[in-house]
Amino acid sequence: MFIMQNILEIENSVRNQTQTGDKSFHSWYKFVLGYPPHLVRHYIYKFGITPGHFVLDPFCGTGTTNVECKKLNIHSLGLEANPVVYFASRVKTNWQTPPSEVRLSFKEVISSASASLDKFGLSEDVSLFVQPHRGTPLAVEPVLTEDQLVVLPKDFISPKPLRRVLILKECIEQAATEQARDLFLLALANLVVNHAGNVAFGPEVYSTKPKKDAYVLDFFYQLVDRMICDLDSQPTIAGRTEIVHGDARRVSDFFPSHHADVNFIITSPPYPNEKDYTRTTRLESVILGLISSKKGLRTLKEQLLRSNSRNIFVADNDQDNVKSFDSINRIAREIEEKRIHLKKTSGFEKLYHKIVKHYFGGMYRHFESLKPMLDLDARLAYVVGDQMSFFRTHIPTAKILAEIAESLSYKVEEIELWRTRLATATKIQIEENVLILRNK
Ligand SMILES: C[S@@+](CC[C@H](N)C(=O)[O-])C[C@H]1O[C@@H](n2cnc3c(N)ncnc32)[C@H](O)[C@@H]1O
Repeated sequence: MFIMQNILEIENSVRNQTQTGDKSFHSWYKFVLGYPPHLVRHYIYKFGITPGHFVLDPFCGTGTTNVECKKLNIHSLGLEANPVVYFASRVKTNWQTPPSEVRLSFKEVISSASASLDKFGLSEDVSLFVQPHRGTPLAVEPVLTEDQLVVLPKDFISPKPLRRVLILKECIEQAATEQARDLFLLALANLVVNHAGNVAFGPEVYSTKPKKDAYVLDFFYQLVDRMICDLDSQPTIAGRTEIVHGDARRVSDFFPSHHADVNFIITSPPYPNEKDYTRTTRLESVILGLISSKKGLRTLKEQLLRSNSRNIFVADNDQDNVKSFDSINRIAREIEEKRIHLKKTSGFEKLYHKIVKHYFGGMYRHFESLKPMLDLDARLAYVVGDQMSFFRTHIPTAKILAEIAESLSYKVEEIELWRTRLATATKIQIEENVLILRNK
């Protein structure tokens, strides 16, 4: 039984960190845009959510809401547009694979990977964690295609670690059982970001000192071992979870059988800033084969809420939904006037004022599309940050979303301060809030 905790009493600096007891399942794969499990728990208690209720996270990312609900025996739905985080949340909430099968399949994969690494001159010692029986090596060394190389940020991983990772991936594809394969591929995604690659997040992804080499099998073993322990010690009764790949601006289209049965939303959509959400996960997306060309990358960007200048397209029309909102028009005008005054003329800067309109227009579509799924008295929590990325113009995200939601007949209950964050450019503390709504 968890002890009820007021998250707002936690120090600002540690508020977004995962607590020690919260690692199981959540740590299988995390990303910088995620919120911590205790934030979800706070709203589960605040709203009085119990088994029997249905929770939805329409921007579920790595599935923090869904994993936490599952642990507490609460049924949940998740929707996510980015294929790699969709994959992560799906795998993190599938606790069906028997640990014994994962163990057996793991040995096959390691044996085959070890033999293949030997064959291609990249030997690693595996005697500590598998019988030194030899698996069948791959016939040919796998490489990325020309199209994949175009979308892989070259400075995120050095050639030798990349070769090791591709060999391990191919051995997973060939040697793992169907049930265990997804677990291993998720461990590989984790390994690529946290071990083989040279990337860091601050909060935008950037490359660090290149690694000449990075052995992969030992790290892989540790990750899979942790997954097996989590599967072994899962709660006897867990909530059901359904995770779907799709666009939250059309959320109800993806859950046709869930008319009016969602009782609660706990979520965090993207924020209107210059963060390219697809770059944060690009390395593992390319390696897992989930983005394999420029065209594939564009298709993904088109499904995302417009929130930065790298995902605005000529045919976009989300802004049409918020034409009558003075607050949005005022901010867009201020941004454009500052750009002209500062003589900023790059193509990206010229898009800044449009991003704001398309962002809020997309959120309008989302709130509108959500309505048919909601129980009459549903309560909703949206974690959103104010922003100052566009020529330091203050965007009070929660306040504007509240205005939009009200226009669509939601009741605004409160805007609760979650934490403050230092804006890198301005050194000003800006708010990250939780907008609480009620369906009516
Ligand atoms: C702030 S993150 C959510 C993180 C999540 N709470 C977690 O703990 O991992 C926002 C997510 O919204 C996703 N997203 C952006 N546009 C979307 C859309 N139109 N439909 C569904 N998901 C979208 C992004 O890919 C990203 O994973």
